[in-house]
Amino acid sequence: MARSWRHFQGETVSPRISVIGTGYLGATHAACMAELGFEVIGLDIDQNKINSLSRGELPFHEPELPELLLKHISTGRLRFTTSYKEIGAWADVHFIGVGTPQKSGEYAADMTYVDAATLSLAQHITKDSVIVGKSTVPVGTARRLRNLVAENKQADVSIGFAWNPEFLREGFAVKDTLQPDRLVVGVEETATEQVLRTVYAAAIADNTPFISTDFETSELVKVAANAFLATKISFINAFSEITESVGGDIRTLADALGHDLRIGRRFLNAGVGFGGGCLPKDIRALQARVSELGLERTMRFLSEVDEINLRRRDRVVHLAEEMAGPLGGKKIAILGVTFKPNSDDVRDSPALDVAARLFSAGADVNVYDPKGNANASKRFPRLNYVGSALESVSDADLVILLTEWSEFSDLLPIDLDHLVKAKNFIDARNVLDLATWRAAGWQIAALGHKFESEPAFASEMALS
Ligand code: UGA
Repeated sequence: MARSWRHFQGETVSPRISVIGTGYLGATHAACMAELGFEVIGLDIDQNKINSLSRGELPFHEPELPELLLKHISTGRLRFTTSYKEIGAWADVHFIGVGTPQKSGEYAADMTYVDAATLSLAQHITKDSVIVGKSTVPVGTARRLRNLVAENKQADVSIGFAWNPEFLREGFAVKDTLQPDRLVVGVEETATEQVLRTVYAAAIADNTPFISTDFETSELVKVAANAFLATKISFINAFSEITESVGGDIRTLADALGHDLRIGRRFLNAGVGFGGGCLPKDIRALQARVSELGLERTMRFLSEVDEINLRRRDRVVHLAEEMAGPLGGKKIAILGVTFKPNSDDVRDSPALDVAARLFSAGADVNVYDPKGNANASKRFPRLNYVGSALESVSDADLVILLTEWSEFSDLLPIDLDHLVKAKNFIDARNVLDLATWRAAGWQIAALGHKFESEPAFASEMALS
């Protein structure tokens, strides 16, 4: 290693960085590394993606990222390529950030992309360098890939290997990358750890905990974190099922629990549950992996976590029927289809799933999402996508808030009163003040709150 690192260990020259995969993780990591002052090349095998990124166009919505992308394309610190040959001859540190989606028809993660990226990289590296995996992977992957690299690399180059999971949240990706709450590195060689310390010097100087550990722990930290978050959400949503049955206020319950610092209030928001490209597939991949290890009972509770989560969607559909009557021909306004606000991501979105199920039950579904309409319409083209919340509620028998964008949380009854056919509302994210809406004559239900249906209500309101 000594020969190749000398050129930047003297701190006069920074390591050159490549990032393989330009999805949420990779594109953000590449732009943030450029922001930290490094020269960066982002690689993707998708030429269209590379063309648009090179023009400074981000193929997804992520606050602050477009500005960073444009800034560093113009500083010249950030560029994009499809050529492994180019990065293999150029970069000192290669981050792998390609996807590990759920396999179709199975719980396990699809490792095709990570394996292919690692192999291509190993075959094309022509200078001493370090490979750092960032993708979320089943435990045991890093060790396997480290061996794959050793078997396939060119004989005269030395390649260090590390695993460095990423904890960024969509919607906060830039902040989470530039100011992470911790850095976790699975690594076996001191020289490789030193390279990571050089790359993350700014965060380390800011007192970010830097946890250097073995490969297995680093892989497990990531899946354990997501499994814990999913469990926390399903925990409060399980209590929603109780308060919906016996009465009680799920928000007050969560607030009171959250004052106990051992529990904490974050990720205790009861609602239609978790979705997205990470939590659902990660809890399933973890179950698949422990089964392979003969430990299926260990993570069995995660199947309950998954089921509780999916039952929340059923609950919204049932509530819609309770409030509006048989769904055939009913006009339903859906506010929000992304899996969470400040994102245009509709992967495994509870909101989009509910919208599609209402449509299948015969409802006429109007959808408005500030950023998600385009992605949702690719998946479910037959819903009516409209350009504003007010347009979506026009003549509606029922309004359902499914993603808590602030423009929906800020809605007041007076905004909608004159537009709807019937004053029926389901707050599936627990963000509205129920008393205000009731006082304005709305029949409003929220997840985690007992709902007593008022059959005459819809028609009375329609007449008033
Ligand atoms: C999640 C983790 O939070 C990140 O730390 C991790 O890096 C990322 O996955 C990943 O593995 O790449 P993300 O998928 O962006 O991040 O979304 P979250 O903010 O975790 O939200 C996940 C889902 O939980 C959303 O559908 C959200 O609406 C739901 N949620 C969240 C609740 O239903 N209740 C809550 O209290 C919090």
